Amino acid sequence: MLNPPLSLQLREGTQDSHRTAESTPFIRVFFSGKLSISQYRNFLLQLFHIYSAMEENPEVLYNDPELQKIYFPELFRSLRLSKDLNLFFGKEDWKSIPILQTTQEYVDRIRFLNNQKNYALVAHHYTRYLGDLSGGQAMKKIVLKMFPEEYHTGISFYEFPEISNFDDFKNEYRSRLDSLSIDVAVGQSMIQEARLAFQFNTKITGSLLE
Ligand code: HEM
Repeated sequence: MLNPPLSLQLREGTQDSHRTAESTPFIRVFFSGKLSISQYRNFLLQLFHIYSAMEENPEVLYNDPELQKIYFPELFRSLRLSKDLNLFFGKEDWKSIPILQTTQEYVDRIRFLNNQKNYALVAHHYTRYLGDLSGGQAMKKIVLKMFPEEYHTGISFYEFPEISNFDDFKNEYRSRLDSLSIDVAVGQSMIQEARLAFQFNTKITGSLLE
């Protein structure tokens, strides 16, 4: 185990990045309940491609004795996002819509790490999934208030039916992170990678209102 433990290093090492990520104009408009359907579904579209990249080779996680410690299929979001997107676009033609260049770079980065079976992948999972189980839950409430009732079934992205207690789950996730047998250098590369993941998220929401 690293000292301080990896989960603590990740949290502390990304505190500034978190603050930046949660205060982009898009997130502010989101929390004030003033996004348009078109802005919101464009956001979901970017997320769909990011999660698809994270989830397309699950064997990279479950075939590795260390990475399998953070293999939690109940966290997977891509199928859920595609359901929400079908509703928000009204049909399935969203699949051919081009994504932002930053999203493409984020996707390429995840695929690169996946192909290399690089442990820095963990940082991408941490950044998105723990975020979804935290601030993401507040976003679900906003979506329900912000959009008319016909869209209220489009919140699958925020739902984790197999997780009964989010705080317990997050603690379990953190203890799995802490149980990874990694050295200081790999730990450092994960913190760096988590900062990069936050930056990608910040850049994406930074361009969604334009
Ligand atoms: C939208 C505005 C956001 C709000 C209101 C928010 C809120 C929160 C809160 C309250 C926590 C603490 C939860 C806990 O310790 O159990 C948290 C943790 C976290 N958030 Fe956010 N967040 C937001 C945006 C983001 C974004 C954009 C990301 C990255 C994509 C993110 C990633 C994380 C991560 C990884 C954690 C876990 C930190 C840790 O305990 O190690 N959040 N968030």
